[in-house]
Amino acid sequence: MWNTLKAHRAAVVDRRFETMLDTARAADFSAMAGDIRLDYAKTNIDASGRGLLLDLLEQTGVAAKREAMFTGAPINETEGRAVLHTALRNLDGGPVHVDGVDVMPEVLDTLARMGGFAESVRSGTYAGQGGRITDVVNIGIGGSDLGPAMGVLAMAPYHDGPRCHFVSNVDPADIAQVLRSCDPTTTLVIVASKTFTTIETMKNARTARAWMSEKVTDVGAQFVALSTAADKTAEFGIDPSRVFGFEDWVGGRYSMWGPIGLSLMVAIGRDAFHAFLRGAQAMDVHFRNAEWTENLPALLAIVGIWHNQVCGYATRAVLPYDNNFSRLPAYLQQLEMESNGKRVSMDGADLAVPSGPVVWGEPGTNGQHAFYQLIHQGTRVVPCEFLVAARGHEDALHHQHQLLVANCLAQSEALMKGRGLDEARSKLADKFKGHELDRQARHRVFPGNRPSITIAYPQLTPFVLGQLIALYEHRVFVEGVVLGLNSYDQWGVELGKELATALQPVVEGTQSVAGKDGSTAGLVDFLQAHGV
Ligand code: F6P
Repeated sequence: MWNTLKAHRAAVVDRRFETMLDTARAADFSAMAGDIRLDYAKTNIDASGRGLLLDLLEQTGVAAKREAMFTGAPINETEGRAVLHTALRNLDGGPVHVDGVDVMPEVLDTLARMGGFAESVRSGTYAGQGGRITDVVNIGIGGSDLGPAMGVLAMAPYHDGPRCHFVSNVDPADIAQVLRSCDPTTTLVIVASKTFTTIETMKNARTARAWMSEKVTDVGAQFVALSTAADKTAEFGIDPSRVFGFEDWVGGRYSMWGPIGLSLMVAIGRDAFHAFLRGAQAMDVHFRNAEWTENLPALLAIVGIWHNQVCGYATRAVLPYDNNFSRLPAYLQQLEMESNGKRVSMDGADLAVPSGPVVWGEPGTNGQHAFYQLIHQGTRVVPCEFLVAARGHEDALHHQHQLLVANCLAQSEALMKGRGLDEARSKLADKFKGHELDRQARHRVFPGNRPSITIAYPQLTPFVLGQLIALYEHRVFVEGVVLGLNSYDQWGVELGKELATALQPVVEGTQSVAGKDGSTAGLVDFLQAHGV
């Protein structure tokens, strides 16, 4: 199947896709899910290429796998687990069974408990020793940080609860800076960890507990735990009434819909959080029912596969023209790279094609004045994914928003059209002549024919946030199934964790560097000589 696609690509590689782009193509190569529009007309995918890519979905059984995921089959085969983050937003759907047990009553019960708690924090019914909670500190890392951290920023216009801070790094600079800005008597600490064993999180949680105990008598009363490990949260001293649990069928990077989203719920309130869940649920329904040719997650996936596995473009830039989405690229880095950054397929064989791409990005116009130079004129092609809202939340500054939108549309147009040598020469003809004109003009050539897609939406509301994040989750799923890998484990993070634990006594000087490689030993020597 890959050979047919590569042969097709070889046949069209020199084509300028701009020449195909009439209004019929613009309509044919865009699709809607609710009021979200995906435009993938500015790519070199034509109807027969799209047909071949969609064949991949049939050949690899995406539809059957999709059903298996939604119905609680253990598709995370290396860990023997179901993959059911969709159950967390199945607000009015039917029962979902795992091993014959309907998980929905517990999901809905936990959601109701979260809602009750979040509202009590927001209203002041739940208070700290010093009164109403003014600050919430979420301590977690990876999926226990990035989802709510990204979400709280994205939802800034709806944030009417206490201030929210996110501590993830074990670097003491992170927690020290946050705690300096908080009053322990009015701070709520949320320890977010699926396993409740993650070294960084537990270290930070103990630091926060010590900080709070200097001023607060009943420290446990101002701590909340979000975890699957009830025994460990009890050991830490957190009362079960403030523990919000979930099951192992929710992967860390897919967990912001449930308890891990508590800080977001406290920030924007129960109703807005429910709207966020409903947006995701709407995308689930779309993903489950829409034809592939109209199915946004499937289309996003085939565009990704075309660019990465077929064309060989190794990276994917995510460029939100929406400042509140400033952490979206970081969030997607974990979602996509921890999910599809694998080198073997489900059965343990080497992958036939490269694994998922390197995902990176920054909010729109900031990137324009930094790395877009390479995107436009560098020797590598970087497929770009633009996100843009029709409206911001600053009504009085709508004209400024229009300028933002114009910038977004201009970038995809520039990437596609480029600027040829003749045009560059004519723009400079009154300044330079002869060889100097040629030399100067060559620096001003834009090769163009560089692909991008645009995801447009009316406004970044809680509902739209839910739609968009679920869209990306399902895209990762489809790409993972086509590649034949397990998107839901993360063994690649384990080796570093083991070695860090083993190196700690070496760094502290209670164990010698003997047996370490020369480079590591040299670095330890240097750092110890300088006071580590
Ligand atoms: O080390 C990777 C990882 O397991 C992620 O998958 C996860 O999101 C993160 O660590 C945090 O894990 P936990 O929620 O168990 O603390």
